[in-house]
Amino acid sequence: MKKLIVLATLALSPVFSAQEMVDKPVQSYQTAQYQARKKAFVDNLLSKMTLDEKIGQMNLPTSGDFTTGMAQSSDIGKKVEQGLVGGLFNIKGADKIKAVQKVAVEKSRLKIPMIFGMDVIHGYETTFPIPLGLAASWDMNLVQQSARVAAREAAFDGINWTFSPMVDISREPRWGRVSEGSGEDPYLGSEISKNMVYGYQGKDLANGTNILACVKHFALYGAGESGRDYNTVDMSHVRMFNEYFPPYKAAVDAGVASVMASFNEVDGVPATGNRWLQTEVLRNQWKFKGFVVTDYTGINEMVDHGMGDLQQVSALALKAGVDMDMVGEGFLTTLKKSLSEGKVTQAEIDMAARRILEAKYDLGLFDNPYKHGDAKLAAKEVYNLENRNIARSVAAQSMVLLKNENQVLPLKKSGTVAVIGPLVNNSMNMAGTWSVATKHSASVNLMQGLQANYGKDVKFLSAKGANIDYDAKLEEIYAAHGKKTDRDSRSKEELLKEAVDVANKADVIVLAIGESAEMSGESSSRSEITIPQSQVDLLNELKKTGKPIAMILFTGRPLALTNVKDMPDAILNAWFPGSEAGNAIADVIFGKVNPSGKLPMTFPRSLGQVPIYYNAKNTGRPLDQKLTDKCEYQRFRSNYMDECNTPLYAFGYGLSYTRFNYSDISISNANPKGNQTVQASVTVTNSGNYDGAEVVQLYIRDMVGSITRPVKELKGFQKIFLKKGESKKVTFDITPESLKFYNGDLKYDWESGEFDIMIGTSSDEVKHSKINWTK
Ligand code: NOJ
Repeated sequence: MKKLIVLATLALSPVFSAQEMVDKPVQSYQTAQYQARKKAFVDNLLSKMTLDEKIGQMNLPTSGDFTTGMAQSSDIGKKVEQGLVGGLFNIKGADKIKAVQKVAVEKSRLKIPMIFGMDVIHGYETTFPIPLGLAASWDMNLVQQSARVAAREAAFDGINWTFSPMVDISREPRWGRVSEGSGEDPYLGSEISKNMVYGYQGKDLANGTNILACVKHFALYGAGESGRDYNTVDMSHVRMFNEYFPPYKAAVDAGVASVMASFNEVDGVPATGNRWLQTEVLRNQWKFKGFVVTDYTGINEMVDHGMGDLQQVSALALKAGVDMDMVGEGFLTTLKKSLSEGKVTQAEIDMAARRILEAKYDLGLFDNPYKHGDAKLAAKEVYNLENRNIARSVAAQSMVLLKNENQVLPLKKSGTVAVIGPLVNNSMNMAGTWSVATKHSASVNLMQGLQANYGKDVKFLSAKGANIDYDAKLEEIYAAHGKKTDRDSRSKEELLKEAVDVANKADVIVLAIGESAEMSGESSSRSEITIPQSQVDLLNELKKTGKPIAMILFTGRPLALTNVKDMPDAILNAWFPGSEAGNAIADVIFGKVNPSGKLPMTFPRSLGQVPIYYNAKNTGRPLDQKLTDKCEYQRFRSNYMDECNTPLYAFGYGLSYTRFNYSDISISNANPKGNQTVQASVTVTNSGNYDGAEVVQLYIRDMVGSITRPVKELKGFQKIFLKKGESKKVTFDITPESLKFYNGDLKYDWESGEFDIMIGTSSDEVKHSKINWTK
């Protein structure tokens, strides 16, 4: 069945051409004859390969010393010529890539083409919001569309494999890599995972504009103790299967071509060497057919994990089911010896090489090794206006309005606006983390966006107001990968005075504060999740001017905003919006786009509440709901003496410039039996003054189970658009599929009994209805 991507057509937001939406794995378009041809081709090729050449296919270096003209002379170039490299990553530019491919297909003995990978995480040169922001759009058409644009741009530039989607569920805002994933929820995470894979891989991997996806990091990387990157994970299997595994499995079901092993351990064995994970679960249970790649030096790191020397851990990885070794050359340097000593088998090596060759076959590289990468086309297709317009629309859809009092937003298109904050004029930080191919200096910063769109009618004044952090050394760490924060050498007092002077000349203050881009991302864990004090002090000073304040929050993680939330009239969470940041923020704050993003991850009141997530268990001593709502303490109940149980902003929360009213739920059948379908409906009415979009959310609670069940779980959502005054009936089809979970024996099934059906605007604001479902 064909579906069309119909992009959200919010009031006055740009409208884009409809594009075909993919809703099936690429493999389902491949015929049995194709599979047979592929097998015969790879069988034949393998029969001609030496042991070294097979192990060579399993080797994935980073481009390192590779620059134009050095394709052959560099160390890697020599290895390519000897057939000792299967793919290369971190190399950018169609011509550069072509030069390397030329060595592989003209100089190596068997002329096997290489694959070229890159971390194309949230766009290529045209950069979309960070993945956590993209998730906040709850718009699967846009999610798929963003991956499609990324794939096309990357492919025109020679890349045919991306290390995305990153789908690690996390309840840990201290962990910097929450910015790279879809947040805390397995259902939302699975929908995004699937649509990213469809977007990258399309229907036909060999068409030259689709690329291999790589779901990562398998598995449980988001559950590291204390939010410290790369830290130990320990988790029950029931939790793994019900709460952390679903998005990886969704990618596999969507036909993802590759899987990346995670750095962390699972059940005491690093994921890279964990046979239960990489073979028993991934291949035997989930039927994954692609290849597994390690993360960067993942094999070598097993030495530090305490699993043996390089030869031992390389053999361990191969036997676990890993096919390709990223960077560490453990396979390249030890597998031959291990084979001669009987520590690995020829069949294991053949199988790994086969899987990589099959992926190359699927990309059509044996027909045309140069099909990805065309410098002329790239110049036209990469970072063009059409793609940037899509990025602008997606960025606006990802923003979450956390607060809006006195209707300070949308701003009037007249008067004087003071635009204040450390990142107001900073293009380098707009993309956020993981932006290998981004054209940073061209990213539209906040001031540029405001001036370009409203500069004729509105007078904008700007001031820095504060540095990102008082601590210069810390700020240097926060400005990693060349994303300079332009630290101001003036004193704190001078910066504040200039900001207050500017504010006093304005009718309203737009205050952009929060994190710089690399305060989240890999190796960017924080032990505090507040806005740095320098910026809180700035907010305090500006509050004293009595001017209305609209705060724009830049962040790559949920922050504890308790100490700042009362000061501004409005808070718009912009995450890191990408290439079109300034334009998209301008669209939202001046009302061209009505915000409709919803949080994909809970914002705690304080770090002490972490981990805090909406789909928690009830416990045997839950705090009474009324006391929970009032934030009152009760002895011998599960609560804190000095903190509420509720978060500051719940999962699924996000305001609009308009208001949506929900009717009660109507249920088609309150006593269903067996495999029936139940319709649960609400009527949603836009009763405010603006047209707008709303994400209607369905949650279910299984009241009694053979194991304890969460107090609610997201089981469906629909993003709808309502003109002001308009009402729409929204219906969810509920089947026993929505009731299934992995029980104590890890059997995936549902159990008869009572279910609480909840529909609402966020996880903490829902209507209820009951059904009793029997088998
Ligand atoms: C390490 C990161 O963990 C992973 O996400 C990334 O894809 C690789 N490096 C390659 O850059």
